This record gives sequence, structure tokens and C-alpha cells, in this order.
Amino acid sequence: MEIKNKKLFLGGVSAESLVKEFGSPLYVYEKETILKKAEELEKAITYPNKKMLYACKANTNASIMKILKEKGIGLDVVSVGELLLALKLGFKAEDILFTATMATDEELKKVIENKVLVNMDSLSEMERFGKLNKGGKCSVRINPEFGAGFHGHVVTGGPDSKFGIYHTDVEKIKKIAEKYDLNVVGVHMHVGSRYLNPDQFYKAMEILLNTAKQFDTLEFVDFGGGIGVVYSPDETMFELNAYGKKVNDIFSKFVKEYGKEVTLMFENGRWYVAESGFLLMTVNTLKETPKLKFAGVDSGMHHMARPALYGAYHEIINASNADGDKEKIVIAGNICESTDLFTRDMDGPVERELPKIKEGDILSLGCAGAYGYTMSSNYNIRERPAEVLVENGKASLIRKRETFDYLNENQII
Ligand code: LLP
Repeated sequence: MEIKNKKLFLGGVSAESLVKEFGSPLYVYEKETILKKAEELEKAITYPNKKMLYACKANTNASIMKILKEKGIGLDVVSVGELLLALKLGFKAEDILFTATMATDEELKKVIENKVLVNMDSLSEMERFGKLNKGGKCSVRINPEFGAGFHGHVVTGGPDSKFGIYHTDVEKIKKIAEKYDLNVVGVHMHVGSRYLNPDQFYKAMEILLNTAKQFDTLEFVDFGGGIGVVYSPDETMFELNAYGKKVNDIFSKFVKEYGKEVTLMFENGRWYVAESGFLLMTVNTLKETPKLKFAGVDSGMHHMARPALYGAYHEIINASNADGDKEKIVIAGNICESTDLFTRDMDGPVERELPKIKEGDILSLGCAGAYGYTMSSNYNIRERPAEVLVENGKASLIRKRETFDYLNENQII
């Protein structure tokens, strides 16, 4: 991302020309940023026997998944849909982990049939899996009591969380494993998403590793995803190399005590893709109340739900006038819901100081590469945008814009 002569450029291409060529609104991803993030994490995690997975729920665009595949990264999938796409793209079964929640027997059968490892999210799932796959392998997702994340909605550890099997239930896990002759080859945790302070994570790591010691057939320990990304100027991120070193120290000590080599795994999603993505949209309406000035755009919470859902902050740049005189303004989406604002917190609208906006200007919403398109919907019968990958001044279409006919072809009337 770069600003030249007051205009925003993505991967060397001007945002205005991208919208001219591919239409508005538009998701744009910079390939170079994805590669850079993958390399940074690869370098920081120094434990030699490691395997990195990408939690593709963050962004399941096939071209983006392929970029990460070429970097030797495997996948964490959470549904049969994600699994089938992964296999279609050539990810090997042994490089995929299936970590669904509330999986049905039908889903489990599909995963077993494709020889992909299932990560047990409950004792119920393990019992049902045992019946379907006697003598098979599995891993177990442990709830290590501690959670971490940017918002209560994305914390996935602790007694309030629906995820995993509580770490105090090891005896119950072992009983089911014995009953169906299951080989528990991995233990796993995912404590939450976008932690910007790793203290709770380290605590959870220790609990998971204590749990791990109670199994003698382990091939891997997976510490989940959740490594933070800075979205707003008020935030700071922990130092990744120091984190990698601490993880290495804790894990090396465990392996020594365990007495045999175990693979260290991570499955980050946001880390790889968030900063690469931008949602470009066009301002079509300026309007005011006695209190606020609004710039209305041709996109909304159906394309990027995070502000409406979590009050999440995303940087907004006026791509047509990136460093003009500033004014306070609220950016509003085109969905018929008052929550549909791109500048808001959990309590409602928050004015943003932005270079003066005119109707027809292109706005860019940053950090849109993770949990943007994947969480989009057709609410209000509106089409999802196209997606474009940019690199070295070249842009390629990686997903077509949806059409009205496509949205309605399955209705029976
Ligand atoms: N592994 C498991 C089992 C997960 O449930 C998740 C995310 C990840 C890995 C990847 O987490 P990440 O590295 O991306 O933080 N919609 C929310 C985020 C929900 C995350 C759900 N699970 C958001 O927009 O912030």
C-alpha cells in the first residue's frame, strides 16, 4: 500500500483504476503482503520440527489459499466445504486438520473417507467418531482454561467457551480412546483471536503441555491461531521474534521431558491475510443530521461485518484524496440497519477525521483480508463484490462479482 500524489495505490495499481476496471465495491489483496507475513512467522518460530497451518476460515479465496500452499503451509479447516475446496486445490490430506465444532456423523464420515485427521471438539464427537472409525487416529482440542482475544466474542478458552474438551477431562478422553482403540496423535488448543499480548497464551501453552504429558502417543501439539494484527493507531503488537523464542524455550523443555520428538504446530488465519486486503467502495451520498455528517457508500455490513458485529476499527483512506484537509465524518453502509456503519464502536457511530470526501470518491477500508469476504452475506439481496489480486503493478480477477440471477436461481416459486 502506498500513497502517491494524494492517491492510494495497491500492489502498484491505483485504487481508482482498479474500481474503473473491476467495478465497485471491490476486494483487493496484495500478494506481496501475504508472502511477507508468511515469511515473518516462519522465521520467528525457530523450533526446527514445526508445521504451519493456515486457518482458512479467515479467507477462503482459492487463489489466496494457493499462495500459502506454495509456501509449504498446510490447512486448518472447520467444515466439509473448506475441506473439499482444500483437496480440490491440491492440499494433501496429511497437511489438513479438521477442527469443526458440533460436527455431525455425516460430516465426520466425509472427513474419514478423505483420510483427514479429525480434531475432537467434544467427548460426544469422540464417541461418535470412535464408532465410525475404530482403530483410527485422532487429535483432541483441549480447552486450557485460559482464553485470549480482542473481544469477548472471539475468546475460545475458559469455562464460558463452547469449544474443546476441558483439560480436566483427560481420563474421559482416554476411556473413549481405549473403548474404540483410537490413537490420540495430537493435542490442540485455540485460545482466541487477535491477541496483542501473549501472556494468557503462554499460560494456556503450559496447561496444554501438562495435558500433553498425559498421552504417550503424541506426534504433534498444535497451539492454534490468534496471533494479533494491529488494526488501529492506538494498538501495539508484541515482538514476534521474542514470542517465537519463548515458544521455542517452553516447547523444547516439554519435548525433553516427554522423551521423544513431537511436531510443534500453529494454525493462524488472520496473521497471514488481514493486512493484505482492502475493501474499495464508492461514496454516493453525503448527508447530515444536526449532530453528524455521513458519507454513504455502495457497500456495508453484508460485505464487511466486523465493525457492525464487534465495533471493530478498520483504517479508512480516501483513495481519491488521501491527504487533503480533514473533516469529521461517519462512514455509512447501504444496508437497512442502523448498525451498518464502518466507523463505529459497540455503542454506535464514531466520527473519523478524514480528508474531505466528495460524492464519487473511492474509500478504502484496510485490514480487510481476514474475516471480510468469508463473513459476507447477501442480506437485503445484494451481491457480493468481486475479488482482485494485485502484484507489481498488475491486477488479476480472482473471483467474479455475484449476479442477481445467481442469488435467486435456487428459489422455488
Ligand atoms: N484455529 C481455530 C480452531 C479457530 O477457531 C480460529 C479462529 C483460528 C485457528 C484462527 O484464528 P486467527 O489466527 O485468525 O485469529 N470473525 C472474527 C474472528 C473469529 C475467529 C474464529 N476462529 C473476526 O472477524 O475477528
